Amino acid sequence: MDEPSVTPAQTEPDWTQSAGPEFVVVANRLPVDLERLPDGSTRWKRSPGGLVTALEPILRHNNGAWIGWPGVPDAEVDPFVEDGVELHSVRLSAAEVADYYEGFSNATLWPLYHDVIVRPEYRREWWAAYVEVNRRFAEYTAKIAAEGATVWVQDYQLQLVPKMLRMLRPDLTIGFFLHIPFPPVELFMQMPWRTEIIEGLLGADLIGFHLPGGAQNFLYLAKRLGGHGTSRGTVGVRVRFGVVQVGFRAVRVGAFPISISSGELDELSRRRSTRDRARQIRAELGDPKYVLLGVDRLDYTKGIDVRLAALEELLAEGRIDRENTVMVQLATPSRERVDSYIQMRGDIERQVGRINGEFGRVGHPVVHYLHRPVVREELISFFVAADAMLVTPLRDGMNLVAKEYVACRSDLKGALVLSEFTGAAGELRQAYLCNPHDLDDVKDAISEAVHQDPEAGRRRMRSLRRQVLTHDVDRWARAFLEALSHNDIAGSALLPDLDLPH
Ligand code: ADP
Ligand code: G6P
Repeated sequence: MDEPSVTPAQTEPDWTQSAGPEFVVVANRLPVDLERLPDGSTRWKRSPGGLVTALEPILRHNNGAWIGWPGVPDAEVDPFVEDGVELHSVRLSAAEVADYYEGFSNATLWPLYHDVIVRPEYRREWWAAYVEVNRRFAEYTAKIAAEGATVWVQDYQLQLVPKMLRMLRPDLTIGFFLHIPFPPVELFMQMPWRTEIIEGLLGADLIGFHLPGGAQNFLYLAKRLGGHGTSRGTVGVRVRFGVVQVGFRAVRVGAFPISISSGELDELSRRRSTRDRARQIRAELGDPKYVLLGVDRLDYTKGIDVRLAALEELLAEGRIDRENTVMVQLATPSRERVDSYIQMRGDIERQVGRINGEFGRVGHPVVHYLHRPVVREELISFFVAADAMLVTPLRDGMNLVAKEYVACRSDLKGALVLSEFTGAAGELRQAYLCNPHDLDDVKDAISEAVHQDPEAGRRRMRSLRRQVLTHDVDRWARAFLEALSHNDIAGSALLPDLDLPH
């Protein structure tokens, strides 16, 4: 299997002639990652994660600019154009990668916002680097954006950018979208810099979350930390009907569940080459009766350990036939220098070894585990080849993998096992839903999915596909950007079924 790599057809526009981009996405990462090879040369490859999967097609259709970090320390990269999108690199030093990215973003915010599955660390030097790097992103954006441009800031790594950017460029329209869950007040209040973060976000005109619950958490915190009942708040805010009034400015808050390019995946998955490769994959696996699949970044939020533990018990109890069942776990390496990720990788690899030691035969392991990303076409063939897709996160903002699997099953075969603790579970009600904290429940869901009645399975898949194919990523982006550009759309209209705090 090849490493996914891309070699952008780079062109060098005449930047001095340009009035600057009208539409700018600001994200920690660029859609492509610079890789330094052992011989000293470099190449670009696709960046990991759902944010890039979702935004890359939007930018291609909108001809905008993308500002982000190229994924390695100390890289000086001139702006270039790829597929009609201007890519602008922000340089981070090795110390900033350690403190801002691995530290504050991924050892403080990530665990705090994912239900403190591991304990967040609060370190002052990490916070200082976070402030510094957020400032750099804001200054870069202020420098290149056209007069009156729309700027869309993405995700937890850049929560201070909206306020910083507004101070530098009050002419801009600023949106912010959080791709991960926004935590309940009891957890968020742990954060030593909680007021600064809420104020940072309140620099935006519109703040989007996946689910109404996250929006509600934010509104509650904006009210609590924005000057009401605390001496630490510095903005005078009022919260009503999904709008935070910050002085004379109205900040609207909404729920916008993200999605995928479902039509494109549907089309790719129907191709003969994809179907042939799917058959070949099954043959390479020994033509088992049941193929189970997991596809994730190797992250402790994803519950890879949960599905392996469930599989192990199901095999031990004979509820799943060891002779006829194979599980494939594709795991993209992620945040490999962060302690909790190092520890989790070891735990999962031990678990895989134990299951194969116990239940495999020579030449026939039960679990096939690949610690590397696979190219998109290959991934689609895996989706088509799998009888059951196991998506078992302990917490996940949305989980695009679940939607990708559904989009790839035009044959109406296959079954989706889905954790209730993903954003996707709110839409994909016909999946085999389970509570990842309840191992028996996960086992039952996997067993039902594997042994489902084919006609009942088709009915479920048809209903899942209706949702995924009618709610694609273009619709998500349109909904957000329309709300951002029409400030007459009432805040409460962006928050379906939300019991707003007054
Ligand atoms: P997250 O953003 O937390 O990584 P998502 O499920 O929302 O989780 O998005 C993950 C994206 O990365 C999906 O588009 C998925 O197809 C892709 N991906 C995950 N694991 C792999 C892998 N092993 N190889 C290739 N792509 C992967
Ligand atoms: C999630 C986050 C993204 C992040 C991605 C990959 O999708 O929401 O912001 O880019 O994971 O993680 P990484 O740390 O490699 O950028």
